[in-house]
Amino acid sequence: MKFFVDTAEIDAIRELHALGMVDGVTTNPSLIMKSGRDIKEVTKEICDLVDGPVSAETVALDADGMIAEGRELAKIAENIAIKVPLTWAGLKACKVLTDEGRMVNVTLCFSANQALLAAKAGAAFISPFIGRLDDINLDGMELIHDIRVIYDNYGYETQILAASIRTVNHMTEAAKIGADVATAPPAVIKAMANHVLTDKGLDAFMADWAKTGQKIL
Ligand code: E4P
Repeated sequence: MKFFVDTAEIDAIRELHALGMVDGVTTNPSLIMKSGRDIKEVTKEICDLVDGPVSAETVALDADGMIAEGRELAKIAENIAIKVPLTWAGLKACKVLTDEGRMVNVTLCFSANQALLAAKAGAAFISPFIGRLDDINLDGMELIHDIRVIYDNYGYETQILAASIRTVNHMTEAAKIGADVATAPPAVIKAMANHVLTDKGLDAFMADWAKTGQKIL
């Protein structure tokens, strides 16, 4: 499973990138707002750092506006994936931008039918939002599963980009189901390294090592 980082914070992306953990980046208007940076400036910095797809989201609500903004965002770098919302206008923009040879990430997907439409419109990525479904007591992971089955039934090449990931368990489950990509906040990716038995084992090894009085260097 590919890892995208869901942030517009350059330092956090740089830290994970140095460990080979970053296959791409996703941003959205809220993440740009949190970064306090200019969208084009920060997106360019991210694209210079990361080779994989970097999603930058349009904010127009009509198809023509999304298409114009998408073309503008695509000028930032070769690896821009234009993010459009899963509305009828977004699907129209997806088809036009995809036919121009651009990568499109259709976002704010909350149903299997929406995902089916995005695949038919040629999306490179579909972003089902797991956490936001869980927030309203629905099963976000079931949606990832349903989309996987449907895409595999018909051989759609649209990549399932599991989004709105809040926990390390979301990462495990998305990987088990076979999501092509998971995009997660840096803290979730880092938390995947944690295990209470690792900490306990390390404490015990350190205590025993101190008793030997030895040094390696
Ligand atoms: C994905 O592309 C979105 O930016 C993101 O995953 C949304 O996550 P949230 O629901 O935690 O805001």
